[in-house]
Amino acid sequence: MLNIVDSIGCTPVLELRHPLVPKNKKLFLKLEQFNPNLSIKDRTALGLIQYALKAGKLQPGGRIIESTSGNLGKSLAMLGAALGFGVTVVVDPKVSSSALNWYKAYGANVDMVTEPDQSGGYQQSRIARVKQLLKLEPTAYWPNQYDNPDNPDYHCETTAKEFLQYDYDVLAGCVSTGGHLSGIAKGLKSHNPNIKVLACDVKGSAVLGGSFSPYLLNGVGLAWRSSNTHLEYFDYTVIVEDKHAISMCRLLARECGLLLGGSAGLVAFAALQLLHTSDVNSILAIMPDSGTNYLDTLYDDNWVREKGIVIQDTVKLRKFLSATTDAQQERMAHA
Ligand SMILES: Cc1ncc(COP(=O)(O)O)c(C=O)c1O
Repeated sequence: MLNIVDSIGCTPVLELRHPLVPKNKKLFLKLEQFNPNLSIKDRTALGLIQYALKAGKLQPGGRIIESTSGNLGKSLAMLGAALGFGVTVVVDPKVSSSALNWYKAYGANVDMVTEPDQSGGYQQSRIARVKQLLKLEPTAYWPNQYDNPDNPDYHCETTAKEFLQYDYDVLAGCVSTGGHLSGIAKGLKSHNPNIKVLACDVKGSAVLGGSFSPYLLNGVGLAWRSSNTHLEYFDYTVIVEDKHAISMCRLLARECGLLLGGSAGLVAFAALQLLHTSDVNSILAIMPDSGTNYLDTLYDDNWVREKGIVIQDTVKLRKFLSATTDAQQERMAHA
């Protein structure tokens, strides 16, 4: 008999057939929304829990405390319910009501910080609160997805094996903690040094360089580079603007029946850009989550208008994809 945990991984791959894919080239999409909790973070959460149990950092029936307002919290909450751990998710007032209800549906405790930190954000306040909670419950386990090497190590040892089954020249993925892409890239390259890796990020994020400025997409990017981002495994980098990632999501939904999250739209756009502007022939692109997480934002016409985003159609996107500037070419050059 299966546990929900057994349905994590083995996600499907499809070939994108759309006029934006250059003739005689191939773009394959690995759909992580087919994980039970609709994102790649099911894999990360499972890895963090398995490694912690093995190392004795998490006891059977113990408690997991993590700072997150996004997909990792949903996955930890689901696994807590399935495997018998208590889960406390430390969030801030920017958390969506749907994510809050998601955590609560699985029976997780939600702990909300209310005071912003010195930068005006809540990241440091959330971490401080996690540390406070850990003092109150010293046997609890803090996965710390940003700095815990178990995050990329799990993807290197486990997820990468799944990615070795297919035939392609370049793996494309995006970064926030950097855990899944760094880990998969390391694992792939150790088996096949010919595979190149394209790391994509949103304009405004500081993960791949530059200074931070606010952007619209969720899940992808960060105000700093976490220690789980390993640049040495990335051969190409592409930075994508919100408007192109969101337009790509809307296009893939309308014209291909694919309802994807914003970071997936970003990776698809960056992969197409590389196919258009280089001699790379085939790319396998990691699509981290489902568009169901963004029906009230990226897929809502009023929200998009309020944010000043003009959705670009196929003709406009094609023009941009094939008219890459010198500066972009430079960014995409081999590291
Ligand atoms: C939708 C989405 N895309 C991309 C990422 C980035 O993944 P990683 O933290 O492994 O870099 C995340 C991480 O939370 C995510 O939720």
